[in-house]
Amino acid sequence: MDYKRILVTAALPYANGPIHLGHLAGAYLPADLFCRYQRQKGEDVVFVCGSDEMGVAIMVRARKEGVSPQDIVDQYHPQIKEAFERFGMSFDLYSRTTTQTHAETSQEFFRTLAEKDVFTLKTESQLFDPKAGIFLADRFVIGTCPTCGNENAYGDQCEKCGSTLSPMELVNPRSTLSDAIPELRESTHWFLPLGDFQGRLEDWIATHPEWKPNVLGQVKSWLQDGLRERAITRDVPWGVPVPEDVAASKGIDASGKVIYVWFDAPIGYISATKEWAQSVGRPEAWKDYWQDAETRLVHFIGKDNIVFHCLMFPAMLMAHGGYVLPENVPANEFLNIEGDKLSTSRNWAVWLHEYLEDFDPDLLRYALATMLPETKDADFNWNEFQARVNSELADVLGNFVNRTLTFAARFADGKLPPLIKPSPIDINALNAIATFPERIGSAYDRYKNREAVFETMALARLGNKYFNDSEPWHSRKSDPQQCANTIHVSLQICASLAVLMDPVLPHSAAELRNMLKMGDIRSGTPSGSKDGIGWDDAAQPLLQEGHVLGESNILFSKIEDDVIEVQKAKLGSKESSTPTEMPYPPVKDLITYDDFAKLDFRMGTVLTAEAIPKSKKLVRLEIDLGFEKRQILAGAAEHFEPADLVGQRVAIVANLAPRKMMGMESEGMVLMAESRDGQLAIMQSSGEDGAIIK
Ligand code: 2FM
Ligand code: ZN
Repeated sequence: MDYKRILVTAALPYANGPIHLGHLAGAYLPADLFCRYQRQKGEDVVFVCGSDEMGVAIMVRARKEGVSPQDIVDQYHPQIKEAFERFGMSFDLYSRTTTQTHAETSQEFFRTLAEKDVFTLKTESQLFDPKAGIFLADRFVIGTCPTCGNENAYGDQCEKCGSTLSPMELVNPRSTLSDAIPELRESTHWFLPLGDFQGRLEDWIATHPEWKPNVLGQVKSWLQDGLRERAITRDVPWGVPVPEDVAASKGIDASGKVIYVWFDAPIGYISATKEWAQSVGRPEAWKDYWQDAETRLVHFIGKDNIVFHCLMFPAMLMAHGGYVLPENVPANEFLNIEGDKLSTSRNWAVWLHEYLEDFDPDLLRYALATMLPETKDADFNWNEFQARVNSELADVLGNFVNRTLTFAARFADGKLPPLIKPSPIDINALNAIATFPERIGSAYDRYKNREAVFETMALARLGNKYFNDSEPWHSRKSDPQQCANTIHVSLQICASLAVLMDPVLPHSAAELRNMLKMGDIRSGTPSGSKDGIGWDDAAQPLLQEGHVLGESNILFSKIEDDVIEVQKAKLGSKESSTPTEMPYPPVKDLITYDDFAKLDFRMGTVLTAEAIPKSKKLVRLEIDLGFEKRQILAGAAEHFEPADLVGQRVAIVANLAPRKMMGMESEGMVLMAESRDGQLAIMQSSGEDGAIIK
């Protein structure tokens, strides 16, 4: 079908941490490539996104940092927005879900569905914290895992054995907010009966056999299992409030009840479009993009969001009525890093804001585009990044542009020379250019970004090969017109490249257009303006005879090995500026001063330290307490080399009953600080050996 306009959304990232490469590869880079291409085609495109600021993910981060959820989103939203801008994300609007427009839009949507009697209401028992006075989200209950005995398993999952849990399954559950033992209390919630939409969703999905197999696979498996109702309200203190009038009409007190984040977040796409419409002075224009059947709506997401975008949100849109459904949801799979699963808590991630401190955005856009997890999980590794930059961007594209412009400056007076009596290889090259807009463009249009980027580089390769085969350094003397023809054709290839490489390399493409003194490319958005150089114009020679060129610069420099080694070393290291996501263990039960006074802490100096054969963990220390020497077996072997312990001043528990381990007696315990990731550090202190610590 022919569409009149395109509305593109990229998943709203949670504002509880910075953006990393997994985010970019899943949703953002593909969405941006698509939009930039479509705009150059002259399509009427609106591209919206924003920070997802509601939900338990935000509350968990706030608790970890000891601040309010509002503080968290106020910290991360601007950081995310700025990193996206520097990366070159061409959003028409980047919003956030704490705006007034979003609260109103979500509540209005909820109200309409309630009025249409779409929801069911159910009263269920839920864990309640009697001390804090609130119902507890799963993540706020910890207890002993019934499977593995881990005493700090969460209400939704045990991170030790990986079991999925419900808070009721925990042994000795306790609230992480107050340490109180949760009570069961009744609470009423709104449910979206997805089962009622099963038939309509199946019929609709059947009209999209062209969707990516990974997406259809997941969707069909959900449908096969049968869709069940989902609670779409929560009793938590952070979120879009359940509208009071809707609750009152059912005799329910709305206070403390909010809309579930997966109900409000996709509505965030609508809110952002409304805000965009206001920003361009056409407040009603959002309706064209959401409510006119001639809109092509495309959601770019990662694979963990498939069910919400392909089933739940479409069911909500169907239930509401009057909205378009997505034409496609080209979800990507996951991106691994250096062969290992990306993990923010282990800092096994490449953070966008850190990357941007060291490199240009285009290098990542290009390299990542060649590695996108389009059909299966893919791997980002720094060596491949380096190879893509050095042997493709620098050696092929950069080199071709540089040679061409240098030759033009030196031997054609910095102008486009006329093409006179072109040779067959000149004509072949010009004919070949003509095929590229369609080759590259159709790949972008089919969400095949890797293919599109490969085809883009193929044009640069063609240019390089043409230049080599033409040998202008020879013809310069033997046949000056042939040399001029080579410069002419090469410059036309450069000009086409400056248009066709724009989606993936927008900053470099702009620089190249500047060097070539070309005009602007078509911006397309949002009125579908046909001004500027369009995508298909790049099929024909773009520069006129006599056209004066600008100054040329090196487009891409090579990256040295040591620079790459620095990046690799950052992986998994705790020195990153990015906070980890490890929870703080709760503080233990209170003790009296008398309990404390029973402990005898002393200062000492490590005299000798040696590994204990057959023990991975223990190290044998001889410690001078001033008045006597002690043998202490410390569980520090995995953290320190024995030699590094010798001479260290340490605090020890001097009156701990001796214990036998590995056939040796341990006469005390060395105090160490264990951080949340399990790293041990010696507690530095002064005072003579034997000094009492109190
Ligand atoms: O998975 C996530 O990061 C979610 N914040 C995505 C939301 S997408 C949309 F529905 F808003
Ligand atoms: Zn467990």
